[in-house]
Amino acid sequence: MPLVYVTRRLHFSASHRLHCEQLDEETNREIYGLCNNPNGHGHNYELEVTVRGEPDPLTGMVIDLKELKEIVEQHIISRVDHTHLNADVDFLRGTVTTAENIVLAFWHILREKFPGNELVELKLYETPRNIAVYRGE
Ligand code: NI
Repeated sequence: MPLVYVTRRLHFSASHRLHCEQLDEETNREIYGLCNNPNGHGHNYELEVTVRGEPDPLTGMVIDLKELKEIVEQHIISRVDHTHLNADVDFLRGTVTTAENIVLAFWHILREKFPGNELVELKLYETPRNIAVYRGE
């Protein structure tokens, strides 16, 4: 049977500050620049969630994309939308909220949430030009 990849794109807005607790203030400013400003700044994030599976012979669907959307909204979007990622999101506490670390944290939450399908890729757009991808490797 053929394996088909399907993707749903979701959106959330959040603020954050790039700051590493293990580094001193000056080094943080050098590394992160404006992104280290104490009170943070915001992004309109886009998250693309890709799962793969065999299309159901009757419905023609790998997964109902409405169902995929609801799973991601329940487990991710509702917990991060309109928050300050550093302060408000329990599963990001203590991490530097780069797109890389955020996409890894999302993966660990979502990986087991699609029974019958395999999560194969998360793509997080911090801006239209800054993107982090994780494929479970
Ligand atoms: Ni930023």
